[in-house]
Amino acid sequence: MSSISSSQRVVSGMRASGKLHLGHYHGVIKNWIELQHEYDCFFFVADLHGLTTHYEDPAIIKASMHDMVIDWLAAGLNPGQATIFVQSHVPQHAELHLNLSMITPLSWLERVPTYKDQQEKLKDKDLGTYGFLGYPLLQSADVLIYRAGLVPVGEDQVPHIELTREIARRFNHIYGREPGYENEAAAAIARMGKKNVKLFNKLQKSYMEQGDQQALEMGKALIESQANLNTEARELLLGFIEGGGKIILPEPEALLTKTPKFPGLDGQKMSKSYDNTITLRDTPTEVDQKVRTMPTDPARVRLTDPGEPTKCPVWDLHKIYSDAGVQDWVQNGCRKASIGCLDCKKPLIDKINAELSPIRELAEELIAKPSVVKNILIEGAERAREVASSTMEDVRDAMGLNY
Ligand code: TRP
Ligand code: SF4
Repeated sequence: MSSISSSQRVVSGMRASGKLHLGHYHGVIKNWIELQHEYDCFFFVADLHGLTTHYEDPAIIKASMHDMVIDWLAAGLNPGQATIFVQSHVPQHAELHLNLSMITPLSWLERVPTYKDQQEKLKDKDLGTYGFLGYPLLQSADVLIYRAGLVPVGEDQVPHIELTREIARRFNHIYGREPGYENEAAAAIARMGKKNVKLFNKLQKSYMEQGDQQALEMGKALIESQANLNTEARELLLGFIEGGGKIILPEPEALLTKTPKFPGLDGQKMSKSYDNTITLRDTPTEVDQKVRTMPTDPARVRLTDPGEPTKCPVWDLHKIYSDAGVQDWVQNGCRKASIGCLDCKKPLIDKINAELSPIRELAEELIAKPSVVKNILIEGAERAREVASSTMEDVRDAMGLNY
């Protein structure tokens, strides 16, 4: 972890995508819900990121944002535990993005894989814009503005976190050395007490001169164990021991969401664009209807035709929802043609409905009280702005924008 004060903070965003489906729930939201118990979490609607591709039809973003936040809350995100807000309500994201743009080489942005990929994929849109090129830099600002230590993301986003780390490093390198930096560091070191000063100097020397990684780790541990250093002094020293300047923007780490792709009704990954989803708000009848009409192993034309579960998208869902007993029953019954496909689907329908039932109920309540959702977002943005503005003060200071 790059820094003690930020390591417990988690930041992640999601573009406004309307009602969520089971793929979002199992792939992202369940993970966020777990994280909120352990970390100081900031989760936001990335509406500005939405604008980079939907600049011509912003109404879509506005309409889908409300539905998405309702689903976050209905699924179990708790505004008492996590800070939930809309990106554009915290203008510091945009401000930091601009400041960072001053030191960002164009080539770093051009080589981010999603840049070319998305331009290819969304051919009907003109994505030759300044805003779209800056998409990953805006994401860097999203993370760095909270000095987050961990960013839960899927595999496709890892290059964006990598860029964020490079930007932070470059920023600290350029702006982290203030006049008087060496003296400040010396003063902080002196506060550790004679014995520790000696040890610290020795460890730093062997890291600097021999690249001794273990010495670096021990030195960091030493700094972190010093009760009489405040956060600022510790961060100063954590930067100093590595030979760099003060860490103004700590480097975050990606927290890879390991969940495999959630299967859709047709066997492809569940996605709105494939029209193969079960949304968190589908009624029991809709779930029943959707699962009943799922395609199965085409070999099973008649009830007496044996099938092969591994060729059937229904089996993919059983692997997620069913216990070993039911899974055995499916495999045997399918291969021996002793159960019908509708029999096979029944326990799945029940499981999905049981999972969705409390979510649907909470969503209903929230839909009936739009002001509750609105207030959660207002309060979330207030909390977020407090942290963000304190980072911006340091950034402005570091960049000399403090006259
Ligand atoms: N680009 C992310 C995605 O498409 C969304 C996002 C925006 C994000 N800002 C972020 C994710 C900051 C993590 C941290 O999924
Ligand atoms: Fe698929 Fe189940 Fe039918 Fe086998 S019995 S083909 S696993 S739905």
